[in-house]
Amino acid sequence: MRVLARLDELYAIGGGHGANRPYGSPEEDAAHTLVADWMREAGLEVEFDAHGNLFGRTSMRDDIWVGSHLDSVPKGGRFDGPLGVVGGLAAVERSGCGSVVAFRGEEVGCIGSRALCAGGAALPAAFLELHIEQGPVLERAGAALGVVTSIVAYARGELVFEGRAGHAGTTPMDGRDDALVAAAAAILRIRETAGRIEGGVATVGQLAVEPGGSNVIPERVRISVDARAPDATQLDELIAAIGFEPSDRTPPAAMAEGPRRILLDELNGRGLPAIELPSGAGHDAGILAAAGVPSAMLFVRSLNGGISHSPDELSADEDVELAVDVLTASVERIANDLEPAK
Ligand code: GLV
Ligand code: MN
Ligand code: MN
Repeated sequence: MRVLARLDELYAIGGGHGANRPYGSPEEDAAHTLVADWMREAGLEVEFDAHGNLFGRTSMRDDIWVGSHLDSVPKGGRFDGPLGVVGGLAAVERSGCGSVVAFRGEEVGCIGSRALCAGGAALPAAFLELHIEQGPVLERAGAALGVVTSIVAYARGELVFEGRAGHAGTTPMDGRDDALVAAAAAILRIRETAGRIEGGVATVGQLAVEPGGSNVIPERVRISVDARAPDATQLDELIAAIGFEPSDRTPPAAMAEGPRRILLDELNGRGLPAIELPSGAGHDAGILAAAGVPSAMLFVRSLNGGISHSPDELSADEDVELAVDVLTASVERIANDLEPAK
């Protein structure tokens, strides 16, 4: 299947040992260039907007968008983002309608979709995003596909700990002010705090230690904080309990009834279980939904216990194939259901 071969090609850009296409990197650019070539081959009209987002448009209802992102986390998997772009391209090509979009920098705060929504450009009449679940729900339910109800609220920021540098061999243990020891205690506290808030999760994924000598007591430590909760109130509670100032905050986003129903109908029509589930991961669909675009997401079952943001990310070929069929039929349905455009 061409979608699977294309996922392999995109994965190889990062060297093939995990996807490595961070926002703004030559690898992210290379992925956009490759997909632009595929769009041209499919006869689409190709355009990069001012933020570097890539569009491939048909001449029929180009205001119905399908897509996702091409950047990746460090050492990411094969499917997170690219599946929605190459699957979206297949759906647009097969249906002959809509536009496919590849957003920039989703992993670091949905840079491209946010800039687009804030920039006053014309927004679509509807947006569909195909994505892997990145969790265990569908695998446990024995379902290949699911439809997203809402996207989690999340906030990112950092905490800084100051101490006093000193000699690792001559400073007595009771005379130290070690910034890394303070950070370690905070990391354990963050874990416990998130566990006390229903649906709350919090992660410290980055740690910068200064001056960074193995024989120097750490003087300054910076840790990243990623905190998430199902709704805005729970997220406020979590942020306050951790005690950090978010630099970036995304509200929860409900998916729209209309396109969601169409996805569910398409599952029902194929005799598939119509599982609905919330997303604990952030997505460009959340940004478009918050900007007022009727948006919906189709999830594909993640295998290996749902692992994601890891090279162990896996979905079955036949599930991907089914998802592209459902997406194609849904784009056609939305195009037919909407008022005639222009
Ligand atoms: C995007 O993958 C996120 O961090 O939720
Ligand atoms: Mn993603
Ligand atoms: Mn991701």
